[in-house]
Amino acid sequence: MHLPLSQLAALAATAPLAFASPRLAPRQNQKVTINLSQKYQTIDGFGFSAAFQRANLIVNLKEPKQSQVLDLLFNTSTGAGFSIVRNGIGSSKDSSNDYMNTILPVCPSTPDGTPNYKWDGKDSGQLFLSQQAVKYGVSTFYGNAWSAPGCMKTNGNDANGGQLCGVSGTNCRSGDWKQAYANYLVKYVQLYAENGVKVTHLGFLNEPDFTASYASMLSDGNQAADFIKVLRPTLDRNNLTDVGINCCEATGWSVANQHAQQMISSGVEGMIYAVTSHEYTSRIGSPMRTKAKVWQTEYSDLNGRWSTAWYSNGGAGDGFTWANTVFNGIVNANLSAYIFWEGVQDRATNNNNNEKLILIDGQNYEVSKRLWAFAQWRVVRPGAVRIGASGGSNLKSAAFQNKDGSIAVVIINSGTGAQTVAVSGLGAPAEGQTVKAWVTDNSSDMKEVAVTVAGDGTASASVTGRGMISFLRSAPPAAN
Ligand SMILES: *[C@@H]1O[C@H](CO)[C@@H](O)[C@H](O)[C@H]1NC(C)=O
Ligand SMILES: *[C@@H]1O[C@H](CO)[C@@H](O)[C@H](O)[C@H]1NC(C)=O
Ligand SMILES: *[C@@H]1O[C@H](CO)[C@@H](O)[C@H](O)[C@H]1NC(C)=O
Ligand SMILES: *[C@@H]1O[C@H](CO)[C@@H](O)[C@H](O)[C@H]1NC(C)=O
Ligand SMILES: *[C@@H]1O[C@H](CO)[C@@H](O)[C@H](O)[C@H]1NC(C)=O
Repeated sequence: MHLPLSQLAALAATAPLAFASPRLAPRQNQKVTINLSQKYQTIDGFGFSAAFQRANLIVNLKEPKQSQVLDLLFNTSTGAGFSIVRNGIGSSKDSSNDYMNTILPVCPSTPDGTPNYKWDGKDSGQLFLSQQAVKYGVSTFYGNAWSAPGCMKTNGNDANGGQLCGVSGTNCRSGDWKQAYANYLVKYVQLYAENGVKVTHLGFLNEPDFTASYASMLSDGNQAADFIKVLRPTLDRNNLTDVGINCCEATGWSVANQHAQQMISSGVEGMIYAVTSHEYTSRIGSPMRTKAKVWQTEYSDLNGRWSTAWYSNGGAGDGFTWANTVFNGIVNANLSAYIFWEGVQDRATNNNNNEKLILIDGQNYEVSKRLWAFAQWRVVRPGAVRIGASGGSNLKSAAFQNKDGSIAVVIINSGTGAQTVAVSGLGAPAEGQTVKAWVTDNSSDMKEVAVTVAGDGTASASVTGRGMISFLRSAPPAAN
């Protein structure tokens, strides 16, 4: 979503043997048990966007604030440790308002004419942001076009809906622009590569079930499939076999499900990396019926006024609400990625609402607790496999085995009272293996807390009421 708001309608239960003396054991009010052999989805990461020139707010910050904001977003020891950046691929002729300018402001007169690409080296501030993210080790960059350039569309405009000329149901006098659009997206990936950023995923639609007054292009899953049949081989011919195609950024989960079923029946399921959905018009329910991965790629509270509260009666912008929102997607719907909407935004836009994680106001910034809710997930690194976790009343738990062998356990205390949580099933620690834990609540932001480790590996720490705690047991020492 974007502008204006008025357009928006919208280790299982068996206890391992305890070797520690009962006198030394911590008080254990609640037990969460990990099951290392119960394996679910692989996690690609957590992220945000700085589309529509929001990245320029970071570009324009002076040091040390610029580095502080970048640390808040990407640092894996002091910030949210985000691992995915979703960049908007511009389709507008210029940068008026907050529009993202395209690399093809004027099309050739015919679809097979030679395109005159214009690269400004900035990409609405997103190239700078991406290059900084690379320095923090981010390796997942999702380039997502809201629309094709207007000259390739049925309505001759990148805004106000319209469709890509050449997909089923269109009949443009100017011809079939599917191949030209695919070449254009390849060019974008190549330009980023030349500037040190490897685009790993490509999307060519945004909310294609919604006609917006800004960049937007309508499509259903069958029309998307028509284009995917051109885009996939075009990427492959250009040596971009490892760039994944994501589709279709529906406004909500129920439309995303329709897209998925249409893509399956059109025979392109095997050509896509992830089915992507937003959560504005319908929230994420049960897992989607698809063999592709599933990402939630954009959601935020569009209506609430700027809030930095962790918990204020469950408001839509509360940090605690976001802790639960991400949890729902990852645990109840098997998502491989959860991406917030804007990472940063100014005060003036949309009445200073909650669609951002950090408010950047000139040279000052303010951080919401939503950012710290995401930070609690930073112990889960790209490539982690979700494993079994259960137990404890008023506790929601999720566990993951990272690629390096470390184990991350993310727990939400839904109760109002503090609880000591004992995580069992980790197995006895090898020499040198440590367990750390961090808490976010009303008064703490990813604050490291004391952990007691019993002889069998059970790790205990205390979490406040309506608080969130993340445990990380380090990888076993390298065997050699
Ligand atoms: C752990 O998960 C595996 C695989 O699903 C299952 O077979 C096993 O029974 C589980 N262990 C416990 C203790 O529940
Ligand atoms: C979740 O993902 C795992 C691994 O991809 C899969 O085996 C499992 O069936 C999925 N669960 C559901 C409910 O779809
Ligand atoms: C993350 O923060 C730590 C602590 O301030 C700092 O030492 C480290 O350099 C930062 N990481 C990056 C990639 O800047
Ligand atoms: C494709 O990639 C391979 C391996 O990186 C490289 O050797 C080859 O030159 C590339 N081909 C083209 C057409 O870029
Ligand atoms: C957190 O703060 C809110 C007000 O911001 C208050 O209503 C709530 O009781 C506090 N919760 C705890 C556990 O301190």
